[in-house]
This record gives sequence, C-alpha cells and structure tokens, in this order.
Amino acid sequence: MLETMGLSEKIRDFEFQPEVYTYPTTRCYKKLDGFSIAQPEFTEEINVYVHIPFCRQICTFCGYLKTLNSDKMRRDYVSALIREIEMYKEVLGAKRIITVDIGGGTPSLLQSDELGEVIDALKAANGNVLSTAKDVSIEATPESVEYEKFKEFRDLGISRVSIGVESFVDKEISLSGRHNSGSVSANAIKMLKEIGFGNVVCDLMAGVEGQTMETFSDSVNTMLDLGPDTVEVYALGIIPGTMIGKRSAAKLMSNKQKYECYEIARRKFIAAGYRQACHNRYSRFGDGGYLQEDTVFRGASLVGLGAGARSYAQNMHYRNPFDGADGKTAIYRYMDKINSNSLAVESGVFLSSEERMRKYVIGNIESLDLHGFSSLYGIGFETAFGELYDELISTGCAEEKGGRLKLTPKGLLFRDLIARQFFSEDVEAAESAYRTTM
Ligand SMILES: C[S@@+](CC[C@H](N)C(=O)[O-])C[C@H]1O[C@@H](n2cnc3c(N)ncnc32)[C@H](O)[C@@H]1O
Ligand code: SF4
Repeated sequence: MLETMGLSEKIRDFEFQPEVYTYPTTRCYKKLDGFSIAQPEFTEEINVYVHIPFCRQICTFCGYLKTLNSDKMRRDYVSALIREIEMYKEVLGAKRIITVDIGGGTPSLLQSDELGEVIDALKAANGNVLSTAKDVSIEATPESVEYEKFKEFRDLGISRVSIGVESFVDKEISLSGRHNSGSVSANAIKMLKEIGFGNVVCDLMAGVEGQTMETFSDSVNTMLDLGPDTVEVYALGIIPGTMIGKRSAAKLMSNKQKYECYEIARRKFIAAGYRQACHNRYSRFGDGGYLQEDTVFRGASLVGLGAGARSYAQNMHYRNPFDGADGKTAIYRYMDKINSNSLAVESGVFLSSEERMRKYVIGNIESLDLHGFSSLYGIGFETAFGELYDELISTGCAEEKGGRLKLTPKGLLFRDLIARQFFSEDVEAAESAYRTTM
C-alpha cells in the first residue's frame, strides 16, 4: 500500500496545505464523454448544492466560479438552473434530501422571486424537500443583507445564512477587493439574528493581505461580541490564477502565523462557550453548524446543480463547466448545454476501490471508526496505513479511543496536512502539478 512519509518533518516546518474539502480533488478530473444520469450511484440520502455564480466584486483571493452580476444574465441563469433541476427530477424525487445549500458566488444577489422559483423547482422534483432537509442555507456577503429581502428568504424556507465577514478591519477588507466594512458586517449579523434564522454562520479568514496576528485576534474579539451561532475560520489558500496568486509583492502572514491564528481562534471561541465542531468550525450547536459539509464528508452523496457544481456519487465524482479565472465563459457553456436539453457535465473521475477507501479515511479523518473501516474494506486500518498510523500516534496528532482513531487538538490544527498524507500517488501528482503552475 502506497504511503507518503514525513508528517513530523512537515509539522516541524509548519508546512501549509489549503483546506482538503473533497477527495479525490478536482485536479484529477478528466474530460467525461457521454455522461448519462444512470451512471452515478447516489446514496439513499442525498444533499443538494445549487451554485449561483454572481458577485458584485471579485475578491483578490477567490478561486470560485463567479462573474460580475448582471440582472439579465442572472435571470437567464435561473431559467437554465430550473431546467437542470427538471432534468434531475427522477434522481431528486427518488431520494431523501437531507440538506440544501445555495452557494456561490453570492446567491443573496438573487431577488426573492428568483430564489422562490429555484425552491419551487426543487419542490416540484421532490415534494418533501423542505420537510426532510434539516438545513436549507444560503450564502451572502454582508453588504447584500437587506431586512425585507432576507425575511422573504426565511419565509421561503431558508434556515441558515452563511456570511463572508472575513475580517472586521476595513483596510484588510479593501485590500481583498471586498465591500463589507466592519460596521456593515456587524449590522448584517445583528439583522440576521433579528429576522430569526435558526443558524447564522460567519466566515473569518486568517492570513488575508495586510492582516497580522494582532488584527486577526481583534476580529475574533469583535466576532465574539456579536455572538453568531457558528463561525468558520479559513486560513488563506493561495489559488493559482487569483489576483493574490499573481501579486508576489503582497504582504502576507507566514504559514506559522496562520497556524497561530488557528490557535488564537480555538482558544477564544472555546473560552466563550463555543464547541469545536471540526478543525475550523466553532458552533453553539456543538456538532453541526454546517450540516452539508459534515454529511458529505461522512459519505452521503451530493447532487450539484448549476455552473461549476460538483456531484459526488459513490462510484464517481463529476462537475459542470468550471473556470475559476474566467467564470463568464464557463457559465455560458453551462447555459448553452442546458438550453439545448442536455446535462452540462464536462469532467469527472470514476473511483477505484482504493480511492473509495482513501475518500472514506479523509472524510472521517477527525474521528475514524476503526471497526467500521475494516468491515467496509476487509483490511485493518493499521495494515492498510501502518506507517501513517504510527506517525499520527507518535507525533501526538491522534489517539485511539473507544475503537476510534481521533485527532487530538494538535491533529486538528494540522488536519489538512494530515489529510493530504492519505492522497494516492495519482491524486498527489495531479495536486503537485497544479500548485507548481503558480
Ligand atoms: C463562497 S464564499 C462566501 C460567500 C460570499 N461569496 C462572500 O464572499 O462573502 C465562501 C468562503 O470561503 C472562504 N474563502 C474564499 N476564498 C478563500 C481562499 N482562497 N482561502 C481560504 N478561504 C477562502 C471565505 O471565508 C469565504 O467567505
Ligand atoms: S469570495 Fe465571495 S464575493 Fe468574493 S469573489 Fe468569491 S464568491 Fe464572490
């Protein structure tokens, strides 16, 4: 069994890896010809992701599929999305939908009637969606939060709003190309609480241009004063093709400092009564706060709708047209395909049994059921990944407790570094080639 070595050296050197949010990573997707909806084998319980790729700004660090908002293009896009949902009707209707996330981009730029049309299309495909989905969420930038509109969003069935605060320091926000001053973000959080969403989630970033550990700590303090239900802390990943990726003069924190920011956040949120739900999330609800991420990590399938959206079935992962640098072209490719009555799937990967096993380990990396692993894969974890197991224990990153291999606080800090140790040779090669294009 192939293994990558050197975790202790990587930790000693504070090597930084961007968040591992899916496995296999999209870098190993290949062009898929002749995709048919009969190919993916979805689990009985599924998650639904809907991508809305319109923004009022292009942030320096952003590698998502997005383009500047235009009312005409957005309306055309919503029509295409509704057609795509209809094409998925049989799959959506046959499954139990447990979460719906509307992400972006900035989906809060949708008008209420446009969001209503998308939700109606989902209800037409699966009449139970709003009762079986335990979480129906939308992403927003702080400055797009408007009282009346978000009340309508709530009435349409949205239970969670995730907003990208990133920092409360105005200089850091403007250096990132964003529009949400600290006071705008604070007002947005207050407004969302007042409207009565069940879960207000705020994103904070560690390592944005101009930020220091002190100013990061100040942003955490402001966040604590505002007290949202859940906070996600993302360490800046430098994505090839983004503005920050091209600006070598940008003054950025060292990797060690980014890790120290994670520690600052952890200490402060836990002291304030939040529970650490995973390596970078603190929630008043303990586990949870971002249900789709949790259920998808643990193996439930995801049906992704819209340009750039990824779908994860048990046997394959695949994606609609995507381009992180030229979103507009990819969005038009998506709309053209759908409007010619064809699904828009362009690329993907079939999962070998070894990749499925690695996906299981990475998805459950924070608390791995060792018995569950061996009954699923017919081999003990220590036999399949012996040297990595020993290294996780000897570095103090994990401990075995009650039949589980659990990451310790140190392991949670280095969670992405650890997850990457479990990449196969092929996936690691695709990732390394991508990173050297910077
Ligand atoms: C789709 S965005 C959130 C919604 C909205 N578009 C916004 O920017 O406010 C999701 C989150 O990913 C994080 N993010 C984006 N680019 C990142 C990067 N390069 N490295 C780390 N986190 C990043 C940010 O915290 C951002 O809020
Ligand atoms: S970070 Fe959010 S608002 Fe900024 S460009 Fe990306 S998706 Fe749009």
